[in-house]
Amino acid sequence: MPKLAVVYLSTQGNTRMMAEAIAEGARERHVDAEVNNFYEWDPVEAASYDAIAVGSSTFYYTMLDPIAKFIDRLIDAGVSGKIGAAFGSYGWSGEAPVKIAEKLRNAGVIIIDPVLRIQYTPTEKDLFECNRLGKDLAEKVKNR
Ligand SMILES: Cc1cc2nc3c(=O)[nH]c(=O)nc-3n(C[C@H](O)[C@H](O)[C@H](O)COP(=O)(O)O)c2cc1C
Repeated sequence: MPKLAVVYLSTQGNTRMMAEAIAEGARERHVDAEVNNFYEWDPVEAASYDAIAVGSSTFYYTMLDPIAKFIDRLIDAGVSGKIGAAFGSYGWSGEAPVKIAEKLRNAGVIIIDPVLRIQYTPTEKDLFECNRLGKDLAEKVKNR
């Protein structure tokens, strides 16, 4: 079974809800999805998965330094050619998911659309979109 790593930074649980829904969507398409807070992931292990979804909420018009550093370590471990996704909850500007996508793309990750941004706490409809992204990730990784 292909494996998906879902990595997130979430301060109040909003991005975590997105991460769980993405993982569930992938599982529904028979991909083994593991979802954890970024500080629980070993970046080298995450980089060894077939696909990697990274999410963060936005703070001060960017992503917080710890998740930026985690992504750098992930990239150092080697992620070129893998399937990826970027996501995150935001309040008013929502730069973090865009910056995550940019960093990963520059490292050769194939980021699938959409870069998913949800304002504040996800609604049922928003979670359905997250689930859909998980399913799309799963289909992409299975068809490689
Ligand atoms: C101190 C602080 C700074 C923030 N800065 C931004 C910002 O620059 N742009 C934005 O879109 N949202 C900003 N937000 C809103 C958060 O991104 C938003 O509350 C998000 O839903 C938090 O998700 P989380 O629970 O996954 O961390 C800020 C929130 C706080 C508390």
